[in-house]
Amino acid sequence: MTALALAWSDSLKVNVEFIDHDHAEFIALLNAATQADDAALPAAFDALLTHTVEHFAREEELMDRVGFFASDCHKGEHARVLNEARRFRTHLDGGNVAYVRAYLADHLPQWFILHRNTMDNATAAFALQKV
Ligand SMILES: [Fe+2]
Ligand SMILES: [Fe+2]
Repeated sequence: MTALALAWSDSLKVNVEFIDHDHAEFIALLNAATQADDAALPAAFDALLTHTVEHFAREEELMDRVGFFASDCHKGEHARVLNEARRFRTHLDGGNVAYVRAYLADHLPQWFILHRNTMDNATAAFALQKV
């Protein structure tokens, strides 16, 4: 069995409940995709994409609601990573399974931690000051 791509822990919390819930779900779906066999991988990737669209939309609604000062930057990064993930999903249809597995096991977990530590954390800290 492949090692987990990421593990949820309280140290990942940004203390906005819905964001922490989304991040735990993102990690669970990413782990499910990395552990899926080749036959199950397309559906697991689709589930991760569906979640990510909603996860990003919820953060963007919060940014708009509290007037987050760097929302353009944060929204732009969401759009960039969604495009990238959708491109990798088409690579899967093209049969580049090893390439897609490396993306899910290495690139996407590193991106998630960096994004959580910077843009999501800053957004949460700003929002918590506003309530
Ligand atoms: Fe997030
Ligand atoms: Fe984000």
